[in-house]
Amino acid sequence: MILLLLTLACTGTITDTGTDTDIVGDQAAGATLFSACAGCHGTDGIGGDDIGGTPSADLTAKVPALTDTELANIIESGFGSAMPSQYTDAQDVADVVAYLRATFP
Ligand code: HEC
Repeated sequence: MILLLLTLACTGTITDTGTDTDIVGDQAAGATLFSACAGCHGTDGIGGDDIGGTPSADLTAKVPALTDTELANIIESGFGSAMPSQYTDAQDVADVVAYLRATFP
């Protein structure tokens, strides 16, 4: 038990807290990750492709209207029935959000 407590105390001091607020999005990395989105939304983000009966959203119109948190949730969880979850790694999600914000302001 003492060993466990010591282990926890030590890791607590030397590791990152792992909270999302520590993570800063990298726009360049997000540009690469966006290729997964471009399959449905297009490289220009305008979308309109028929995805199982639902047109893919126009990111040039949607992104300015959504907060970073809302965008992160959409990337992590997907949207509606036609857009599946894309990325669940917090750094990947932050990178894509940074790219979206810079590209579709
Ligand atoms: C398999 C195709 C597909 C992929 C891949 C995809 N999307 Fe979507 N996305 C859609 C469709 C279809 C909609 C519209 C869904 C609806 O209106 O029900 C949508 C909607 C959205 C919306 C608008 C949500 C709203 O509030 O109306 C955003 C933002 C978005 N996608 C971002 C992304 C990003 C960023 C990626 C990549 C990380 C991505 N999408 C990948 C198909 C896709």
